[in-house]
Amino acid sequence: MTLKPVRVGICGLGTVGSGTFNVLMRNADEIARRAGRPIVIEQVAARRDNPDCDTTGVKVTADIFEVAQNPDVDVLVELIGGYDVARELVLMAIANGKHVVTANKALLAHHGKELFGYARERGLTIGFEASCGGGIPIIRAITDGLIANQIDAIYGIVNGTSNFLLTEMIQKGETYQQALAAAQESGLAEADPSLDVNGTDSAHKIAIMTALAFGTDVDFDAIPVEGIDNLDEQDVAFGRDLGYVVKLLAVAHRIGDDVTAWVRPAFISTDHPLAWVGGPFNAISVYGHATGHTLYYGRGAGGSPTASAVVADVVGIGTGVLPAVFSSTRFWPDRNTTGPQVGLDGSVSRFYVRIMAQDRPGVLASISDILGRHEISIASLRQNEQARRNELVPVVVTTHSCREPAIRDAIARIDALDTTDGSTVCMPIVEEHPEEFSN
Ligand code: HSE
Repeated sequence: MTLKPVRVGICGLGTVGSGTFNVLMRNADEIARRAGRPIVIEQVAARRDNPDCDTTGVKVTADIFEVAQNPDVDVLVELIGGYDVARELVLMAIANGKHVVTANKALLAHHGKELFGYARERGLTIGFEASCGGGIPIIRAITDGLIANQIDAIYGIVNGTSNFLLTEMIQKGETYQQALAAAQESGLAEADPSLDVNGTDSAHKIAIMTALAFGTDVDFDAIPVEGIDNLDEQDVAFGRDLGYVVKLLAVAHRIGDDVTAWVRPAFISTDHPLAWVGGPFNAISVYGHATGHTLYYGRGAGGSPTASAVVADVVGIGTGVLPAVFSSTRFWPDRNTTGPQVGLDGSVSRFYVRIMAQDRPGVLASISDILGRHEISIASLRQNEQARRNELVPVVVTTHSCREPAIRDAIARIDALDTTDGSTVCMPIVEEHPEEFSN
């Protein structure tokens, strides 16, 4: 006996919307066979036609709210982006008894608690595999495959645009602006890539993963976020000379009983497990107390990879697997009881520090004096003579592990010296997270 079809309404026919439309249309027979029931597109809402989608025979509307009110739609797939209208749309869909599948990380990072709670109250499910890591099934991994674990840490490269730009800067020695211009020309970066390059997109993703993995009540606005948009190519080059590559990391880990989450460019050693992740790819390391290190790698953006995750959620709703997991497990943001997360003050790390300083007697002594007074031990120090800019030379220091507030305070004091220009750059050097599992 074949079960009745799952009727889908797709809101938004951009990159992910059209990818989802085409995957559902082109793989319809195979998806129906695997799901045990057909998945049919009942309605599509889009502001304009997308020439990549043949919508012949499908109801098309320009009004997304029509889909949320359509009694023939079982699952509303929200792919419009943004978080105000999207929130309204999802609330309306749930009010009208529809399950929701979304790729919208901004929506969930800001309103997840409210939306999950409302869906649960109404006996409905929100699928959001596509919100983190595109085609990588990381949400399933955290909420299902790793369920036996206490998660100790997550280290992610979760923004493909930034990773692509950094890879170009590292491999071709380009400036950030040169890499961005080339990426925009080839269509790899959006015309307005602000949310990608300023770290916000990565922060949305780590907020979602942190809430699930640690059961923490995440305050998105309290996550320290820094992007790659101010990265200077000379730091990329100096880091390379020291054996490091720069990556935009999205990290969450325990500090004692607390959890910290942050996003910023960081140096990792060339033999770190994430160092080889290049171009537009994403990778997420999850450290479980039973598994130790597990690593998930794949395309984190693009129509077809992200559609793979969207369709998996629709099928999961059709088979009943997702509603069962959603209703019985206690991962979800509306069920979190601990937290909120803490900032960086409790963090300990090694640091890369570049100071633009005058080249005269006593300057290095005053810098090392300030570091010493803050209990910061210097691991290496190099004055890069050939990179002199006017009267100033870059002094590159790497430190041994020290507390985050100590390095911040030391830099403020170094920047206040008459012999520096006040523009000191500081980036963490992130070591591989220790595995804390017992055999
Ligand atoms: N724009 C994102 C990226 C994908 O470049 O990885 C969607 O979050």
